[in-house]
Amino acid sequence: MACVRAVRSFAWIVGLACVLNPFVAAQNSSYTTGVVVDGTSFALNGDNVSYRFHVDEDTGDLISDHFGGSVTESVPMLEPSVAGWVGLPGRVKREFPDLGRGDFRVPAVRIRQSQGYAVTDFRYKSHDVVRGKPALPGLPSTFGNDDDVTTLVVRMYDNYSSIAADLTYSIFPRLDAIVRSVNVTNQGQNNITVEKLASFSVDLPYDDYDMIELRGDWAREATKVRRRVEYGTQGFGSNTGYSSHLHNPFFSLLSPTTTESQGEAWGFSLVYTGSYAAEVERGSQGFTRAMIGFNPYDLSWNLGPGESLTSPECVAAYSEKGIGGVSRIFHRLYRNHLMKSKFAVETRPVLLNSWEGLGFDYNESRIYHLAQESAELGAKLFVLDDGWFGNEYPRVTDNAGLGDWQANKERFPNGISNLVNQVTALEAANSSSNLRFGLWFEPEMVNPNSTLYHEHPDWALHAGDYPRTLIRNQLVLNVALPEVQQFIIDALSNILSNASITYVKWDNNRGIQESPSPSIDHAYMLGLYHVFDVLTTRFPDVLWEGCASGGGRFDPGILQYFPQVWTSDDTDALMRISIQFGTSLVYPPSAMGAHVSDVPNQQTGRTIPLLFRAHVAMMGGSFGFELDPAKLAEDERALVPDIIALAERVNPIVVKGDQWRLNLPEDSNWPAALFLSENGSQGVLFYFQVRATVDQPTPYLRLQGLDPKARYTLDGNVTYSGATLMRTGVQYKFNGEYDSKVVFIEKA
Ligand code: DGJ
Repeated sequence: MACVRAVRSFAWIVGLACVLNPFVAAQNSSYTTGVVVDGTSFALNGDNVSYRFHVDEDTGDLISDHFGGSVTESVPMLEPSVAGWVGLPGRVKREFPDLGRGDFRVPAVRIRQSQGYAVTDFRYKSHDVVRGKPALPGLPSTFGNDDDVTTLVVRMYDNYSSIAADLTYSIFPRLDAIVRSVNVTNQGQNNITVEKLASFSVDLPYDDYDMIELRGDWAREATKVRRRVEYGTQGFGSNTGYSSHLHNPFFSLLSPTTTESQGEAWGFSLVYTGSYAAEVERGSQGFTRAMIGFNPYDLSWNLGPGESLTSPECVAAYSEKGIGGVSRIFHRLYRNHLMKSKFAVETRPVLLNSWEGLGFDYNESRIYHLAQESAELGAKLFVLDDGWFGNEYPRVTDNAGLGDWQANKERFPNGISNLVNQVTALEAANSSSNLRFGLWFEPEMVNPNSTLYHEHPDWALHAGDYPRTLIRNQLVLNVALPEVQQFIIDALSNILSNASITYVKWDNNRGIQESPSPSIDHAYMLGLYHVFDVLTTRFPDVLWEGCASGGGRFDPGILQYFPQVWTSDDTDALMRISIQFGTSLVYPPSAMGAHVSDVPNQQTGRTIPLLFRAHVAMMGGSFGFELDPAKLAEDERALVPDIIALAERVNPIVVKGDQWRLNLPEDSNWPAALFLSENGSQGVLFYFQVRATVDQPTPYLRLQGLDPKARYTLDGNVTYSGATLMRTGVQYKFNGEYDSKVVFIEKA
């Protein structure tokens, strides 16, 4: 009853807000984008999406009404849901399903109180609408100005436990993206423990869905898996301490008939780098609950009186243009409203990285020689990977040195800054600029064979006397500790302030085991984000690249700070087509590091021609080489300057453009992707033939995303209408296995 009063007494304030705030419009007018409030009914309207819910007057619950294509009204429940002991009418489509008085499906929140109860009773209390989008405290989050995004905060309260829960929803109307996070505050006198907290939870109403996720492992990340949503719960997550190679923090629900380019699709992407859980439950009453947030196994977050816990945010996207439509929403949002780096939409320098070419086997003159060759070939950035540091415990193999971030004096007698000076004095061929210098770090790790470990054994994550499991001979530093955060900040600042280093590759090569308590996982993340924030703010001119044994932390949390991520340690071009296409389900191609490596490929042993390898790598925003040019055959070496020139030409379109996956590698012998600049005037088509065919008709490739009425010139030669290119298609002849085309498209 108290709650009903609160709802009613609040109604006039909402009415007032309608007058004052242009973003709060009356419900029954024509379709308005942004946040629309009518009493205690709420709509988040995008150009092509509506997300609607309302307060149930009897229970104070928030009831979900719609998440899908744009609508202007909610359909009331014409008949009560199935009765009986699971029915509980009115509680079956809750925005914030809690535990204990619920609908017997998977809850979004579970809080243990000091008396032992895990029951909560969150009811609507009030709401606010604000222009723009406030940042989340200590967590990465999407951003935008007042014209880009509007935010609705709905405050819920449990009178019995004095716990408050604020649900914060934002809508980016032009992008059809909805973002939600949850904040729980203990307003009582006793401690409570948050055992589960989902960032987003929604009940979709139709019976049949398929679900797509990106699963994988080291060197085979982002494998797309599509399966039917069955009755009961299904899901995945990570309890590795990181988002992980195993499952990406993303899933899509889609109608069984939805394809890459047609049909309804919903995407859910968690802006977080730690352990997480994604759960989908098809219930007995025809609803499918979709949920993603903290992993309950790695939470147990204690809140004293007055303390709060904020969940990471989840971005939910909806499109009627298939899974490709959902991907393009994420790409635009993440390029323009997630990545803070000034390089987010800038052309990236072609680089040469030392790792696959030299590994640990080098000294100063060998590195300088490699840099000279890089400059001669026309690379713009030289990257010194693992192996440059450690004195008492030199990093000459992977069993020593992590934590000792001083250049090894035997390898670099004159220090790293001297090498940097020499390398950056080299003129990059075919350009007026000098070579830039980049350096590898793995700051969150320590080898027991290191001075750091001997001085601070307690800085490594450990659980009392339990053995400290080594993976790749290393342990994880407890980044939750302020002294560890400061150590990392100082170690990197020291090097970056004393040498002209304009790129950092931030690696991370193991998961977390023997954590002292489940809550350390999130505390670690808050510490890590603090470190990222300080360093990227202090060194804004550095191009930061994330890496975790390849794509082990390819997630939106990382992208807030680092505009690119090394996509996979698998540099085999055939595998890379699948890995890059899979990764692009959520992440913009601009964010992908992709390198041309030597053959036979180190991971698969496969030999693929240089041009094909290069064309595949050019589909990533950060194109480069990862080989010793001395090992290239003469005819291959001769191709490199042209390859670099082509990479530099396609890069602005790849970095800033929209991507259309035309043929998928899992379905076709001719995978293809089209990149179109945001205004549609420039495009580049990547088209591959994997296996040789015999006496096979030349396939047609139908383009997408063009203006049917406009005319487009292909490679400056022939001009066709968008309609022809999309409805008839183009034909290109391939020669044997691993042949490829790159075609430039210009709107006439
Ligand atoms: C794993 C990364 O993914 C590689 O690119 C390389 O940097 C190695 N670590 C170095 O140890």
